[in-house]
Order: sequence, then structure tokens, then C-alpha cells
Amino acid sequence: MYKYLTINSLIQTTCYLLSSALAIAQQPSSFNPGQLWPDADGNHIQAHGGGVIKFKKTYYWYGEQRSQGLDSNLRYVSCYSSKDLLHWKFRGNALQITDPEHLGPRWVLERPKVYYNEKTRKYVMYFHLDNNTYKLAKVGIAVSDRPAGPFVFVKSFRPLDHESRDIGQFIDDDGTAYLVFEDRPFGFRIARLSEDYMSLEKEMSLIKEHMEGGAIVHYKGLYYAIGSALTGWQANPNKYAVATSLEGPWSDFKDVAPPEKNTYGAQSTMMLKVTGKRSTTVIFMGDIWKPKTQWESTYLWMPVQIGEGQLRVPEPQPWTLDVKSGGYRID
Ligand code: GAL
Repeated sequence: MYKYLTINSLIQTTCYLLSSALAIAQQPSSFNPGQLWPDADGNHIQAHGGGVIKFKKTYYWYGEQRSQGLDSNLRYVSCYSSKDLLHWKFRGNALQITDPEHLGPRWVLERPKVYYNEKTRKYVMYFHLDNNTYKLAKVGIAVSDRPAGPFVFVKSFRPLDHESRDIGQFIDDDGTAYLVFEDRPFGFRIARLSEDYMSLEKEMSLIKEHMEGGAIVHYKGLYYAIGSALTGWQANPNKYAVATSLEGPWSDFKDVAPPEKNTYGAQSTMMLKVTGKRSTTVIFMGDIWKPKTQWESTYLWMPVQIGEGQLRVPEPQPWTLDVKSGGYRID
């Protein structure tokens, strides 16, 4: 018995060491757009249509959990944490819920984004909530006391009574929080969150362009709004417009990359600004969807060339980032 236990535990220890060594060996040394992106356990990151936000000194990445073998009655929002934006630890599913409002089979929970409200000390998650016709067009809200959850579903509504499908998150340099949402009959709206973040209180702009995957960045005095065309999971040329104020007026839309490249197969989800001690890098975060094997959908994160009203997502290639200095390198 004693001998059996020893051999057994030796085998277990060896397996554990081998799998840890494998996970370490798989750790990326650069951002590799379009490639599988292993987390600390060696699993491809499942945070699709997601968003990254920094709480204290840690970055959190929330997104759609689309692993194989999930319970089809549930919807899951994953949570990962990182200090450097490259190496991510899976913190579990921050939200895991059954159909909250009798939405029926193939109900939809997409594009989750999390804010932290300093006054209420609550983490507030917004997401697109819908039934399988996509006609409900609402946002849902869930809250938690901790960044990794568990989040608890609170309510759903149409922001400022408008239809809302894809949503995007924007927090300005002064800390004011906004939601970007696609209002199919009209265009692309930007609205300010209420004081407790549990509703929307003021519309800043309606950009009369039919865009989804909405994202905004404030860089050197200008706001850049990015979005994709309405082509479902298929990639299209994403475009951007510029304004000196969130209330506009917004410029005409221009391509973020040569249009024939279809944004290198990606769809915008967020523009992440990393301000370090020496410089600022703006990262285009996009999803490269694999509609038939959603769990293999990858990500295109590239530092953009930005300034003076121009924005360009360069050809994807490996790159590295130093979050402390704020600088990046394309090798
Ligand atoms: C895309 C949208 C995704 C998802 C998909 C479903 O246009 O950006 O979030 O809703 O359609 O077809």
C-alpha cells in the first residue's frame, strides 16, 4: 500500500511538473496577432468581444467565454488578470447565468464590459442581452463587490429608450464613464453613465453611421471613434472618425487599414490606451471570429499609429510592450 501510494504520487507529481513546464514553455514572449493566446494554464484565452480595464495595478480582461463543452443553457463571462497585458491568468467565469428573462432558446449575452464605481464601490458589468432574433436589443447589467465576481444579474433595459446591440466601453481621462451602443435604425450612440453607473443619463452624440464593435480613444486632445460595418462575424474595413469633443461634430469616416485587407480579418472591440512614464501606446483590440469554431476565435491587438486626426492599424506582426514606460517595439 505504502509502496503503491509512493509510486502513484510520484506519477502525479511528474505529471503536474510536466504540465506546469508545458504551460511555462507556452507562455508568449510577444503579442502574436491572430495566433492562439495561451493563458497561464496554457489554455487559449476565451475573452471574445471583450474589454480590458485597469483596477489599481492590475489589468482585467472580460469577455465572452466560448470554450467547448459549456452548458448551452448558461452564458458565461470570463475574467483574466495581468500585470503586463501579455501574460494572463484565468480568474474564473465572473458571470455565469441561466436565461434571466425568459428569452428562450439561443438567447444572447455578448460583448461584456466592466466599470468600477468609486462611490458605490461596485463593479458594474454591461452586456448586450437579447433573444435569438436579436430584436430585443437591450443592455443587461450585473454587479459584484470584487473584480473577478461573482457578478449578479440586476436588470435589463434599452439605453435612453434606444435599441442597443453591440456595446463598447469608454472611460475618459477625467474618469467619466460612457457606453457606446449600436442603435440599428439610426447609427452609433455615445452616452454618459449615471452617477451609480446603473443607467445612462445623457446622450453625447448620435453618429449617423451604421457601425458596431464601437470603441473610442481620447488621444492628445482628440476623440477617435472606431467601428466596424454590420457584416456579422465576417470581417470588413473598420473605420474611424475624429472630433474635438464627444458631442461632435464628427469628421467623415476613414479606413483604419487598406480596405482590401478587411482590418486583417478582425473586428474592433476596444481601443486601449496605455500611458507609461515615458510614452503612450494605443492598442487596437479586435476579434478574429471563427463562426463555426468560436472557441478558436483569436485576437488582433496591434499598437496603432495615431495623432493629429490620423489613425492607422499597421500590418499585424509580433510586438512587445513595456507597460511601465508605455513604449512598444515591433521586432
Ligand atoms: C456581429 C457582432 C457580434 C455578434 C455577431 C452575431 O456583428 O459584432 O457581437 O453579435 O454579429 O452574428
